[in-house]
Amino acid sequence: MRRRSAPTAFDPAAVRPWNARLTGLGYGGDYNPEQWDDDVRVEDLRLMREAGVNILSVAIFSWATLEPREGELDWSWLDRTMDRLHDAGIQVALATATASPPPWLTRRHPEILPRLADGTVLHQGGRQAYSVTHPVHRDYALRMTARMAERYGEHPALALWHVDNEIGCHVPRDYSDAAAAAFRTWLTERYTTVERLNEAWGTAFWSQRYGTFDDVLPPLAAPTFANPTQQLDFDRFSSDALLDYYRDLRDTLREITPHVPTTTNLMTTSACKGMDYFSWADDLDVVANDHYTIAADEDRHVELALAADLSRGVAGGEPWMLMEHSTSAVNWQPRNRPKLPGEMLRNSLQHVARGADAVMFFQWRQSRAGAEKFHSAMLPHAGEDTDVWRSTVELGETLQRLGEVRGSRVSSRAALVVDYPAWWASELDSHPTQELRYMDEVRSWHAALWEQGVTVDTVTPRADLDGYDLVVVPTLYLVDDAGAANIAAAAERGATVAVTFFSGIVDGCDQVRLGGYPGAFRDLLGVRTEEFYTLQEGETLSVVGKAVDGEARADLWSEKTHVADGTEVVAAYDDGPLAGWPAVTRRDVGDGTAWYVGTRLDRAGLGALASRLAQSSGTTPRVVAPAGVEVTRRVADDGTAWLFAINHTAHDAVLDDVTGAELLTGTTTPGVLEVPAGAVRVVRLAA
Ligand code: GLA
Repeated sequence: MRRRSAPTAFDPAAVRPWNARLTGLGYGGDYNPEQWDDDVRVEDLRLMREAGVNILSVAIFSWATLEPREGELDWSWLDRTMDRLHDAGIQVALATATASPPPWLTRRHPEILPRLADGTVLHQGGRQAYSVTHPVHRDYALRMTARMAERYGEHPALALWHVDNEIGCHVPRDYSDAAAAAFRTWLTERYTTVERLNEAWGTAFWSQRYGTFDDVLPPLAAPTFANPTQQLDFDRFSSDALLDYYRDLRDTLREITPHVPTTTNLMTTSACKGMDYFSWADDLDVVANDHYTIAADEDRHVELALAADLSRGVAGGEPWMLMEHSTSAVNWQPRNRPKLPGEMLRNSLQHVARGADAVMFFQWRQSRAGAEKFHSAMLPHAGEDTDVWRSTVELGETLQRLGEVRGSRVSSRAALVVDYPAWWASELDSHPTQELRYMDEVRSWHAALWEQGVTVDTVTPRADLDGYDLVVVPTLYLVDDAGAANIAAAAERGATVAVTFFSGIVDGCDQVRLGGYPGAFRDLLGVRTEEFYTLQEGETLSVVGKAVDGEARADLWSEKTHVADGTEVVAAYDDGPLAGWPAVTRRDVGDGTAWYVGTRLDRAGLGALASRLAQSSGTTPRVVAPAGVEVTRRVADDGTAWLFAINHTAHDAVLDDVTGAELLTGTTTPGVLEVPAGAVRVVRLAA
């Protein structure tokens, strides 16, 4: 990969905040004026003012419009757009325009096209048809990025740079020759000698020993299971390669506009496995995220909460931007349903309640042509006399009333440990079961705590856990020694730590920690598992004990687990081959406790256990809300606190012990807060 030299005297303190020229929260979306005639663009400005829009992402897919033939630049429409938006008081997250190379580029340089593991070439005609590691593509992308920075770097409408778009969205893994070469370079840097690589990958197995790095390939389609560590390292490499692409474009921008913040839109959902976003965090001046709910998912608002908590986790607790979501239906699910009445507002304010300082959409005006013409937008095909447009205007007004929460942080005393390499490794092939989905486990625990009203921060195994009274560690199959020690130290210091099945199994090279499972956590938990008993599809077990409030069902997984002295069995299997063996255990550790959950409990069982963990760790919420009413807090540096209450149910709700000023209705709450069915309330709490 060809790299431009990094800016010499870059001063992070000189980067202005992305929202320096905005008052309150950001509100807007992707704006694609190149798809429209000028009279429509003029109308856009009027409607944007009406909706209260103050920030837009511009020029994301504009390369072919800006440079229709190589070297022939047409800036006219973008110059006009930037000036007009500035005149309208709207700021711009200006893209590098690189997200989709123009047709002339891939025709002239077909070698930049990415490839799947089976050799299939991904051609031009959609978007993102480029290999991030190809030096030719890199050169062209850097040149376009530099042009954007040189032309608009001083423009008063420019708030921040938006590098490329959803990097890795369609091509998280590229198996092209360029990627293979970059993979070998990455491996050489990681292992220095091929012997170390052989050790790490366990290549004594199946005659896989390498004599030179030159023989190493990406895990291409193979007759049977590819080497697991090769697969895992390719995941690590691919995330790093995508980040390297971002960094290179970012460095180009920094060189020319060192004062302008830079970001790219992440996709921290429970479905996006490609990139280790925690390792990207330091390179983003502000974390920006795109999130889309899945219409068929009845608990989509709970999944949204997890995605928002992941964004905040990547941001290290700092406020972040919701760069994209949808006003209503999308176009890429099997069945694309509109949102329910009020759902878009609730979705938006859930993100704000969980730390977002901007609410943005894909996109401003619904396209007339192209693959996304049936994707909703702020302004739909049917125009202004629509519920979608009215809700766009309503949301703009609502966000203006919430401007004072900007910059505050979400308060939480519970941590959910999430780790992308553990995700990648836990789902490799040739495992005890192919049914295990890491994010299902993370999601179930997050949901169980959500139902208890416990707000969690998502953190990595090595994060500072000092502020947390409850630390939940779902299925952390891979963990290094430092991560395991950090989690154990939290229990010693007084936290309640809960670790679940198939955790601590392997080290960072995917090599088993010997002596019994869950290897890295055996001492902390006081348990030793000798064998996994995975369950067949549809098979369930009965689990009984106080940990699950009597009896629960479990599926997927069970273990033959021995307990050490001092470890209490708080639930056991009641049937099946492991009848009588421990299912859930508990142990005092230092000033805290460590729990092990050796199976996958059903919703009721998990709920009972989550409630017990919340109680014993003292993380139960101060304000008790009825089921389906989500309550969180944001707190400013000066101690001002806001309570967000979002009623996801069809029933009016009443919360006790809430006194303060309600910002959306402009009323005062004298101790009792009414939250009508489907509504949101935000109270600045009385000191
Ligand atoms: C992503 C992309 C957008 C658009 C939306 C559609 O988030 O960044 O360009 O394609 O998906 O949901």
